[in-house]
Amino acid sequence: MDFKETLETRRSIRSFEADKKVSKEQLEEMLAAAGMAPSWKNSQTARTFCVISEELVEKVKKECLPEFNQRSSAGATALLVTAFVPGISGFDTNTGTPVNEGGNGWGYYDLGMHDQNLLLAARAMGLGTLVMGIRDAKKLRELLQIPEEQEVVSVIAVGYPAAEAKMPPRKPLLEVVRFC
Ligand SMILES: Cc1cc2nc3c(=O)[nH]c(=O)nc-3n(C[C@H](O)[C@H](O)[C@H](O)COP(=O)(O)O)c2cc1C
Repeated sequence: MDFKETLETRRSIRSFEADKKVSKEQLEEMLAAAGMAPSWKNSQTARTFCVISEELVEKVKKECLPEFNQRSSAGATALLVTAFVPGISGFDTNTGTPVNEGGNGWGYYDLGMHDQNLLLAARAMGLGTLVMGIRDAKKLRELLQIPEEQEVVSVIAVGYPAAEAKMPPRKPLLEVVRFC
């Protein structure tokens, strides 16, 4: 699959084949692609907690996701819980103060680029993903023992798509872009 096709056919998947398990090696390949992403001063503050044991995957879904996201991620056999270390990306290393008005927004920015690489790599490998921003960060932190000094962000379900998904319509270019 070439890059354009990967870009155009990546979709949020909400129906997975429960009997086809995603391997640790596949997740490692996705994470290696994610690690190629740029970051503020190469600070690489993105963190990922890979939930792969069947028992824990089910526990995280049940205890940390609202019902609609539990339904959407039902057959996904891996969950990637994403986080970042705040106070670094967008911050002056000497003074620890924000370099500009973006503050920790830059940490989220870096994590987004990291995770987009991961989603595209998954698509190129024939896997489906669903980013879930609606989740219980406190419960995720407790269950996975995510350190207090990290900001818990999303849960990404990973699995084999059970059906093709249609692309939700995109805004026309000139509604969101201005050439100056
Ligand atoms: C930061 C973020 C949070 C999201 N949270 C959820 C979510 O909690 N549940 C869900 O079903 N989809 C969620 N989505 C998926 C979006 O709804 C989806 O990306 C959008 O509708 C465009 O569809 P596409 O990914 O197929 O292009 C999220 C996407 C992003 C980027």
